[in-house]
Amino acid sequence: MLSVLNHLYSPGAVKGRCSVSLPMASVLLTFSLRHNLRLVASGCRYVSKTAPKTLSEFEYDAPSMKTPVPGPKSQELKKQLGEIQNVGAINFFCNYEESRGNYLVDADGNRMLDLYTQISSVPIGYNHPALMKAVTNPNNLSAFVNRPALGILPPENFPEKLIETLLSVAPSGMTRLQTMACGSCSNENAFKSMFIWYRVSVLACSYVCLFKQAPGCPDLSILSFMGGFHGRTLGCLATTHSKVIHKLDIPSLDWPIAPFPRLQYPLEEFARENSQEEARCLEEVEDLIVKWRQKGKPVAGVVVEPIQAEGGDNHASSDFFIKLRNIARKHGCAFHADEVQTGGGATGKFWAHEHWGTDDPADIVSFSKKMLSGGYYHTDELQPDKGYRIFNTWMGDPSKNLFLSEVLNIIRRENLLEEVTRSGKALLQGLYELQTQYPHLLSRARGQGTFCAIDARDDVTRDNLLLKTRDKGVLLGGCGERSIRFRPALVFKEHHAHQFLNIFNDVLAEYK
Ligand SMILES: Cc1ncc(COP(=O)(O)O)c(C=O)c1O
Repeated sequence: MLSVLNHLYSPGAVKGRCSVSLPMASVLLTFSLRHNLRLVASGCRYVSKTAPKTLSEFEYDAPSMKTPVPGPKSQELKKQLGEIQNVGAINFFCNYEESRGNYLVDADGNRMLDLYTQISSVPIGYNHPALMKAVTNPNNLSAFVNRPALGILPPENFPEKLIETLLSVAPSGMTRLQTMACGSCSNENAFKSMFIWYRVSVLACSYVCLFKQAPGCPDLSILSFMGGFHGRTLGCLATTHSKVIHKLDIPSLDWPIAPFPRLQYPLEEFARENSQEEARCLEEVEDLIVKWRQKGKPVAGVVVEPIQAEGGDNHASSDFFIKLRNIARKHGCAFHADEVQTGGGATGKFWAHEHWGTDDPADIVSFSKKMLSGGYYHTDELQPDKGYRIFNTWMGDPSKNLFLSEVLNIIRRENLLEEVTRSGKALLQGLYELQTQYPHLLSRARGQGTFCAIDARDDVTRDNLLLKTRDKGVLLGGCGERSIRFRPALVFKEHHAHQFLNIFNDVLAEYK
């Protein structure tokens, strides 16, 4: 029986469409258990019913490994760069010319299926022909050559380009847009906007005397969540609480930190427990807002990720976010959804907050990564009253909007959000099956679209699994204490999911 299966699912064998959609998790697990009885023998292939491969002209077929990673050339280059800067975080060096679609090629000629995509920031894969074409279009050249100080001397086509790109995907209720360069500077300036707005709003309400605030530099705060990540600049870092290494030795601000729900997965199976946990956290949020007001440091804004990403892919329900938004409103705080990592389509909707099902999701939504540059959308009320209050030299990069325009065209033309939903289901279903098959190694599979994660039994196992999987040709990332996160590009299809699952199964089967 096993040899037949091995033959059927070995590379090159004819593959049938995977017909199991993502049903109730319990049904899934029952299915998985039955399904996996055939798979307990170590070394057997993960039984994937692969979808027909959509042959993409520009992509490779499969990983191809020549050396362990990092290979000798990467190691040599790391030594060279180490003479110039700290290289403690460098994994390996890349050959971006040779990389295509979902496959990243390294300096030693190893070709890996990339499920990490430059920390979740590659929207449509490497060297996409549409982006290559945009670079060679003579009409675009001046945008690549001349980088303007957008706050004072924007190019004449800037309003038109913003309308065509960023505003065409503006979140519901967001009429205004501020461009920036990276995720941290987007959040940093979004926080400033909330402070400026809050000051105006409290003055308008004549509450200022109650708060005994000094004029000019008020003692305001931003409420953030334990496990959240909003960047590494000083203001953002005060709201980042994911890893010690980010914050060590850096002074911080006395701002409130609320607990983020620690949910049990699959969410559907633990609805009652999870809703109790969320209620506990919301109660704490309200207490903290009151406490900080009494301390003379009122909360001007609440910042939250729709899925806590760096902190370990921690999810919360739509109900939680809607109630949180209402608590913020009730206490006169602005509500900021940080979509730097979740935005741009990976959850199967363009913005993760669209899953909340409300047309008034937030006052501010910040973005970067898959959007290729940074910025934030906001409501009319958060518009600062004067120039130079929200400002820096570049304030974004119009050449990135040219690429974004192509990215948005491809997302629409190729229905990539539907593709993400489809390949995400295949990925998550496979993860459910693997955690059933290897319960001593894996647990807590979770995800939305391809924005998925699974936990290893401890951090050492997680790190080992990442390295072993990489040596077999799949690049993954870690997050939180012991999670593996999946962040493929939007061009990741079902057959890529099965390719990964097969390789990961081999790694797990060999794992001691
Ligand atoms: C949710 C979130 N916010 C902000 C940031 C910071 O973005 P950047 O690294 O571009 O400064 C990140 C980066 O990973 C992020 O995931």
